Amino acid sequence: MLDQVTHVENKLAELERVTLDDLSQVAQDARSVLDQVHRIMQHPNPAKTPPTFQSPYIAELCKIDKGHIRHLAEKHKLPYGTKIPGSKAHEYTLEEVIQWVNTLGNYPKRPEGQQGLAIAVVNYKGGVAKTSTAVALAQGLSLRGLKVLLIDQDGQGTATQMFGINPEEHVDYEHTIMPYIEEDQPDLRYAVQPTYWHNLSLIPAASVILAAEFSLPAKAAKKVDFWNFIKRGIEPLRQEFDVIIFDTSPSLSHLTMNTMLAADGLVMPCPPDALDFASSVQFWGLFDDLLRAFRKHDPNLAAKTYAFMTVVMTKVQPSEGHRLVKPWLKQAYGRHINVLEIPESAAARMAAAQLKTIYDLGKAEGTVEAYRRFKEPMDKFCDDILEKIALAWRA
Ligand SMILES: Nc1ncnc2c1ncn2[C@@H]1O[C@H](COP(=O)(O)OP(=O)(O)OP(=O)(O)O)[C@@H](O)[C@H]1O
Ligand SMILES: [Mg+2]
Repeated sequence: MLDQVTHVENKLAELERVTLDDLSQVAQDARSVLDQVHRIMQHPNPAKTPPTFQSPYIAELCKIDKGHIRHLAEKHKLPYGTKIPGSKAHEYTLEEVIQWVNTLGNYPKRPEGQQGLAIAVVNYKGGVAKTSTAVALAQGLSLRGLKVLLIDQDGQGTATQMFGINPEEHVDYEHTIMPYIEEDQPDLRYAVQPTYWHNLSLIPAASVILAAEFSLPAKAAKKVDFWNFIKRGIEPLRQEFDVIIFDTSPSLSHLTMNTMLAADGLVMPCPPDALDFASSVQFWGLFDDLLRAFRKHDPNLAAKTYAFMTVVMTKVQPSEGHRLVKPWLKQAYGRHINVLEIPESAAARMAAAQLKTIYDLGKAEGTVEAYRRFKEPMDKFCDDILEKIALAWRA
């Protein structure tokens, strides 16, 4: 017994208390390691470059026979790429691929006089593939000929990092949505920047945007309908862009709520996992509660409609657990459940480890089979969202 007491006392003596200064040191050390990782992965900045593509990719996107590429290039005065040394194959830049798509791809285009559509990717559960889905969708829609803007609304800046930008090093207050939120800018046009990806622009984020959580509700004192703030901020951008995609944070924050009210379409990625499902149910409950509260102040909100709301199952595994939960999701979300499932995939993990999406890989890295198994459903998902956008334009 005495031995045990002495043992505990010894252990207590060894116990090193963690002070707030220690935590501050942890923050600095961790930041410095992350910065080094960024420098290794993305040096020199901006190091991220689009992939190059070969004829089969163009043939697939434009739904043409790859044997006709040469003839079609001559007929339509389209770029014939650059011959790969030592091979018969030709290599195309992203811009060239988009030129082919714009000429021969049979994808819907924004009709004259129609506004660009805003899509918010939401779920307050973390790690459900919001950012992966938002960035891949943005790239996928640009590959289908649309001009896309991605707005990073998450202080973690994960989407920003996927564009090869280190948020804490290269994103300042004035690059983000904040000057607009603080009413130093009339709308969000100032913050749009081009990216390494043709026809895809970005409004980046860093932790400074967390201040929006205080600034937005503070506007209530000035009798400003702060829940419509983002909606007003993107209004002039709807002319320039066909689609505006928001990547939101894992929370139903004021910013996310604002974004959901600005959006014309909602995408909720959700793995068919019991806890993720339960969390998604909570999310809609909370959204409904907040909406009721806002509607008391703004009766116009009653007229708000969405062109679509779609729950897409992500990170789907062929496991017993996932098989069990899928029907719950289908029953809970009914017509809103997307018919497509995005599988848990080694190709997605491998791409993500290099801060890439499946579209950053112009061709398979790893096995062709793993690449196809992920790219095919992602392509179909992009086609499906484009169809929903086109329907909204026609309505
Ligand atoms: N289909 C997939 N297969 C395997 N891994 C995936 C897949 N989709 C996403 N991931 C991985 O899951 C992790 C979380 O993805 P992501 O960052 O897109 O989620 P998130 O919902 O945006 O997270 P957060 O809530 O932190 O913003 C990442 O490491 C990502 O690479
Ligand atoms: Mg994210």
